[in-house]
Amino acid sequence: MKNKFELAFIEKLIFSNYKIRSKAIQINGEIDDNFKLISRNDTYFFKIYAVNTEKEFVKFQVDILSSLKKNKKTSNNKPAVNGSLFGSFTDKNNNLRFYRMNSWIEGRLWSKVNPINKSLRFELGEVSAKISKELKIIKKSYERKNFHWDLQNFLWIENYVNEFKDPQINRVKKLIKSFKKEEGKYKKFRKSIIHNDINDNNIIVSKDLKDPEISGIIDFGDCVYTQLINEVAIVCTYAIIGSKNPLISACEVLEGFNNILKIKEEEIDLLYNLILMRISISLLKSNLNSKLNRENKYLLISQYDMEVLFKDWSKINKQLATCFFRKYCGYIPHKNEKQFYKLIKKNNSSLSILFKGLNKKNIQPIDLSVSSNWLDNEMILDDKVFDQKLKLIESNKLPCGGYLEVRPVYDSLDYEKITDYGAENRSTHLGIDFWVKEKTSVYSIKDGLVKIITNDKTKKGYGGLIILEHLINDIKYYSLYGHLSDQEKSKIKKGQKIKKGQKIGEIGNKKENGGWAPHLHFQILLTLLGFKNDFPGVCFFNEKEVWASICPNPEKILDIKLPAAKIKNNDKLILKRNEYLGANLKLSYKSPLHIVRGLNQFLFDNHGRKFLDTVNNIAHVGHQNINVTKAAKKQLGILNTNTRYLHEEILILSEKLLQKFPNKLSKIYYVNSGSEANELAIRMSEIYTNSNNHIVSKGGYHGNTNYAINLSNYKYSKKGGGGKPKNIYEIPLPDMFRGKHRGKNSSKNYFSYVEKIVKHSKRKKEKISSMMIEPIISCGGQIELPKTFLKKCQNLFKKNNILLICDEVQTGFGRVGEKYWGFELYDVIPDLVTLGKPMGNGHPIGAVVCTKEISDKFNNGIEFFSSFGGNPVSCKISNEVINEVESEKLQQNALFVGNYLKSGLNKLGKKHSIIGDVRGKGLFIGFELVDQKLNPLEEKAKYLKNRMKDLGFLMSNDGIDHNVIKIKPPMIFDKKNADNLLFYLDLVLKEDYIKYG
Ligand SMILES: Cc1ncc(COP(=O)(O)O)c(C=O)c1O
Repeated sequence: MKNKFELAFIEKLIFSNYKIRSKAIQINGEIDDNFKLISRNDTYFFKIYAVNTEKEFVKFQVDILSSLKKNKKTSNNKPAVNGSLFGSFTDKNNNLRFYRMNSWIEGRLWSKVNPINKSLRFELGEVSAKISKELKIIKKSYERKNFHWDLQNFLWIENYVNEFKDPQINRVKKLIKSFKKEEGKYKKFRKSIIHNDINDNNIIVSKDLKDPEISGIIDFGDCVYTQLINEVAIVCTYAIIGSKNPLISACEVLEGFNNILKIKEEEIDLLYNLILMRISISLLKSNLNSKLNRENKYLLISQYDMEVLFKDWSKINKQLATCFFRKYCGYIPHKNEKQFYKLIKKNNSSLSILFKGLNKKNIQPIDLSVSSNWLDNEMILDDKVFDQKLKLIESNKLPCGGYLEVRPVYDSLDYEKITDYGAENRSTHLGIDFWVKEKTSVYSIKDGLVKIITNDKTKKGYGGLIILEHLINDIKYYSLYGHLSDQEKSKIKKGQKIKKGQKIGEIGNKKENGGWAPHLHFQILLTLLGFKNDFPGVCFFNEKEVWASICPNPEKILDIKLPAAKIKNNDKLILKRNEYLGANLKLSYKSPLHIVRGLNQFLFDNHGRKFLDTVNNIAHVGHQNINVTKAAKKQLGILNTNTRYLHEEILILSEKLLQKFPNKLSKIYYVNSGSEANELAIRMSEIYTNSNNHIVSKGGYHGNTNYAINLSNYKYSKKGGGGKPKNIYEIPLPDMFRGKHRGKNSSKNYFSYVEKIVKHSKRKKEKISSMMIEPIISCGGQIELPKTFLKKCQNLFKKNNILLICDEVQTGFGRVGEKYWGFELYDVIPDLVTLGKPMGNGHPIGAVVCTKEISDKFNNGIEFFSSFGGNPVSCKISNEVINEVESEKLQQNALFVGNYLKSGLNKLGKKHSIIGDVRGKGLFIGFELVDQKLNPLEEKAKYLKNRMKDLGFLMSNDGIDHNVIKIKPPMIFDKKNADNLLFYLDLVLKEDYIKYG
C-alpha cells in the first residue's frame, strides 16, 4: 500500500541519515514511493519500498548496484553516513519501511526520444549485454517463484488466453503450443541474473539531441535469475516500439548485444518466439490493468503500442526472422547454405538440362544493374527499346544474368515498403534471368516434387510459376521457374513427382513477363518461408546477405559462371577523390552519396536507393530526359564543330529563344556556362558604357571565373574570398523577411541604396556600368525581390546609361511558373540576360541575350569566338529542352505544383514555428528556419537536409546564413512528389533536435 509522504519529511529523513540537504520531488512509481533529490552538488534517486517488501529483496537490489560498479551506465549506491546502503523507518501506520538511495542518471526517457536510430539501438544492445555480464558476479539471486514477468514462467498465460482480443487469441495459443514443444531445450539454456525489464521507460538517453547516446539503465526491481536469451528478447521488444521495420530494428539491438556477449545458435532459434512472448505478457498485463484502472492514460498508451507490435511482429515469418538474427550475430543466415553449396558441387545439374541441349558456351551475360552501361534509361522506360537491344545480341547467344544484381527497374508499389528510412524499393535480384524466346520449353533441373504450380492473376502479370522441391542428402531445396505460360493449362499438378529433364512448362509471352521481353526467372531456395505463390524474386539491398543465403547462387547448380555483380566501395572513391581532386571541391552530406543513375526527378545511388531530387534545377526537364538524350546522341553521331561554319541548329535555337524575349532583346551569344555568360555580359556592358563599376546585391552569386567571383558577394565576402573589389558597389540583400528593411513595401527602401550609389558615383565621377542581379536571389536564400524594386532601378538606370543585367542562370526557362523568365515578374526589360544551367539539362551551354545596340558596340574589332559555344550538339540539346518545356507544359506544371507545395509548406509553417518564411515562385521555392527571435538556424537546416536524405529526399541548405532550405527540382516534379516531400518534412520537423535542440 502506498501512502503519501510529506516532502519535508523526506528531506529531513535524508538529512538525518545522509547529511545531505536536498529538495525532494516525488516521481512515478508503480508500487514504491520514488523521489528525485536535488542537492547543491548532486542529484539522487531515493526509494521508499512498499509495505511488506522483504528485507532480502532490498538487499538484493543494493547488491545489484554494487556489482555493477564498473558499469558506467548504471547508478551507484549512496551509503548513509553510518555506511549502510539501505535503512528503514516506521511510517505513520506503524509499518516498517525500507529505503535506499543511489546516484541519479541524467537524460531523457527512451520512450520520448525521436528519432530512435540504428546507433542508439546498437548501443542499447551493448549496454544491456555489459550489464548481464556484470550481473553474473552476484552469487545469490532473490528467489522469485511464479514471477509473471519471467519468460521461463510463460505458461501462466494459458489461463488468460481469453483476455486477448479475437485475432490475437489463436496466435497466442500457437505460441503456447510452440513453447511447450521447445521448453525442454529452452530449460537447458545458460542462465544468469538479468535486468528483465529494460523497457522504454527504464532506458535513459543523453540530452544530446543530434547524436544521442545511452546514458544509463535504471530500475533493477524486476531482476531475476533466468535464461540469458530472455534479456535479449526483452530489450528487443521495447526497442522496436514504433519502428516501421521491427525485424531490422531488433537486429540492430541484437548486433550490439552479440558484440559484447556472443549469442548461441540454439538461443537464436527461440528468439523470435521469446519476443512475441514478452509482447504477449506485456499486452495481457496492460489488458488486465486497464480493466482495473480505466482512467490511466499511460496504461492505455502502452496497451496500444503492444497491440501494434503484436500485430507487426506476428506478421514476420519466424524462419526469416531467425535467418536475420543469425546474420546479425555473425552466423551464416540460412543454416543449410554452406552444406548446400558443398553437396551441390558434386551433384549439380546443368544449363543443358534446364533448356534441353543448350551449350553453356553460348551464354552472354548482360548487365541490368543500376550502374550498367548497357542498360540506358530508354530501355527502362520503353520495353520495346529493351526488346530491340536484346535482339542486337547474336541470335545463337543466350543473354542472361542478374544474381544479386541491384536493378533500377522495380519501380511499382509492389516493390515498395515504408521503413524507418522512408519509402524503399526492393532492388536486388535473387535469381538468374534467361532471355529466351516465347514458348521455349523449360525442363526440371533435378528429380523433384511439384510444390507450387500457379498463375499470377494480378494486373501486372508475372505469368505461370512452378516451384519444385528437391532433396540432396537430407537437405531440402527448391527450384523456382517464373514467367512461364499459363500454368492452369498445364498437365502438371501439385504434388506430382517430376524427373530430372522432364518438361515442366514453356516461356510465357510478354504479358506473362511483367511486360518485359520473354524470359525465365530461375531461382534456388533453401526454404519457402511460408510463401504460397509470391516468393520474392527481388529483395531490399540492405537485406541482401540474408536473402542470398536463403536463395543460393543458381550458377552453382547450373554449372555456369557469370560475372559477379560488383558495387564500388564509397570509401575507396572518397580516398581517390581526395588524392586527385582539390579539397575545396566539396561533397554533399555527412555520408556522401555515390550516384550512378538519373531518371526523371529521381537519382539512384550505387545501392539502388532511389532519391527524389528536390535540388537540381539543372536537370530542368528531368534527369537523362529521353528526348534530350536522344537528340544529343543523334547529333553527336553526325557533327559537332564550332560556329565558323553555317549550321541550322544554332539558328533554330536562336529563333526559338529570342521569341521568348521582348523584341528589344534581339541578339544572342553562346558560351559554355553561366559563369562565362556573366563574364561576357559584364565585358559587353563595360564596352557599351565605357566604364567598369558595377552594382551587385549582397548574397549574390554569379559564377566561378575571376570576374564572376568579383561580382559575387556570396563568395568574395567569405573566408578566403579577398573581400569586395574596389569597382564593385553593394546593396543590402533585399530580403523582405529578415533583411535591413522588412515587409512587402520595402522596394523603396532597397532602391534608396541603388540611388545613393548612383549619386555617389556621379559625384566621384566613377560612372556605374551595370547592375547584375538575379530575379530571385538563389544562393542568398531564394530571395524574391520587392515588387517594384527592379522597375525603380531600371527607370534610374535609363536616365544614367546604366545597364541592367538579369542573371537567369537559375530561374529561367519557365521555372518561376507565372512567367517564362524571372525578370518578367517585375515588369522590366533588362538590357542583358544571362542563361545557363537548365538550358542544356546538364550539358554545358550558356548564353547572353542583349539588345542590338549593345551587340553593335561589342563588335568593336575583336572577334568573338568560343570553341564550344553554340556548337551543333549543344544547340540541338537546348532546342530539345525548350521543346520539352512546351510539349509537357512544364511551365504550367511549375506554377500548379509550386503553388500547391508552397501552400503545403505554409501549412507546415503553422504547425512548426521553426519555419519562419516560405517564399519563391513556381518550382523555385525556399523556406527559412529561424528561432522565435528570427535568428537563423543553420545547424537545424543541415540536420533537416541530412535527415531528409536518410528518408530518400535530396535537399540543400543555403542562404547567407545557410538556414534556408531550397527547393528547385526538375520541372516534372508532380503533386505526388510534393505530397511525399511534405509528409516527410513534417516527420523530421517533429524530431527532437529540430523541436528542442
Ligand atoms: C545565379 C547564378 N549565376 C551564375 C552561375 C554560374 O554558372 P556555372 O556554374 O554554369 O558557371 C550560377 C551557378 O550556380 C548561379 O547560380
